[in-house]
Amino acid sequence: MAISIKISKTPQSRIHLCDFENIEFGKIFSDHMFRVDYTDGKWQNPEILPYGPISIAPSLSAIHYGQAIFEGMKAFKNEMGEALLFRPIDNAKRLNISAKRMGMPEIPEELYLEGLSQLIQLDKDWIPTKEGSALYVRPFMFATDDFVGVRPSMNYSFIIFCCPVNSYYPKPIKVKIEETYVRASSGMAGFAKAAGNYGISMLPSFEAKKEGYDQLIWTDGQNHEYVEESGTTNLFFVVDNNLVLTPKLDGNILNGITRDTCITLLKEKGYIVEERKIKVSEIIEWCKAGRLSDCFGTGTAAIIAKIAAIGYQGTDYELPDAAQREVSNYLYKTIYAIQCGKIKENHNWSVLV
Ligand code: COI
Repeated sequence: MAISIKISKTPQSRIHLCDFENIEFGKIFSDHMFRVDYTDGKWQNPEILPYGPISIAPSLSAIHYGQAIFEGMKAFKNEMGEALLFRPIDNAKRLNISAKRMGMPEIPEELYLEGLSQLIQLDKDWIPTKEGSALYVRPFMFATDDFVGVRPSMNYSFIIFCCPVNSYYPKPIKVKIEETYVRASSGMAGFAKAAGNYGISMLPSFEAKKEGYDQLIWTDGQNHEYVEESGTTNLFFVVDNNLVLTPKLDGNILNGITRDTCITLLKEKGYIVEERKIKVSEIIEWCKAGRLSDCFGTGTAAIIAKIAAIGYQGTDYELPDAAQREVSNYLYKTIYAIQCGKIKENHNWSVLV
């Protein structure tokens, strides 16, 4: 059945306020947003309206009990000026995996994709074309019951808004292996893109920043023996320039869409890629022996975040010159070219809107 979306266009575009040459990540938002509300057991009244404040009750249950999840995806323009989304169906599926874990209703994929594509069509002029930039798309869902008490909310809102962005990390980052705090442990919600997973990381990453690090590498909750993910990305380690390792999906880490893209591309290129538990001690040994040829984070916002140095128990291990790295440079160039429609691929990752 066709999905009918009410559209109320902004009377005055704000696009002239955006300096497309100097975009700061996450600070400027496109003209419109998509919204649909869940009430009486179904998603109702989908609409596209001008981006702007929403009214909420002080007792909004998402704020108190944390039923809030989100996604991240990017839109690009090809050489013909058409809008392309990167792996939107995978994003819709992952949002529903997060929703299930958080006791929230799933959103029908057709509704998600229709709202998304109509929004992107309407705000297509906001897609930047400068090398490295994109229109970041932020779908999110939150509980809206006006109620105090711990139980799953009966009402929810789902919204998608967009912001033109540049690279999330403009330069290679310095990360610290975290041994005090824990992001997730067995049975928790580490695989979900739940707001609370990011909330609990604020203090640890703030403390790491004070020590001069850009990000953390989280370790397991039992003995801090194995690495998991970084604050905003999944992790990859390249040993002796040909063996690529990434922590396996054990329920504690996000099933990254960029992670999956990298694994697929690297296997196609002939690299050996192992998804397995990776010990902190192995990484430190590779660093000491000069065998860690490349190390990077992967994520929608960052695409590929090269790691310049790893801090562990007070020592910083410097990694090879980022400009010379084979694997991360190959991945960044290839993924970005696929995203902009410059390279044809047979996975149907890049979808015309
Ligand atoms: C993304 O990569 O899309 C994320 O959600 C990470 C966030 C830091 C922007």
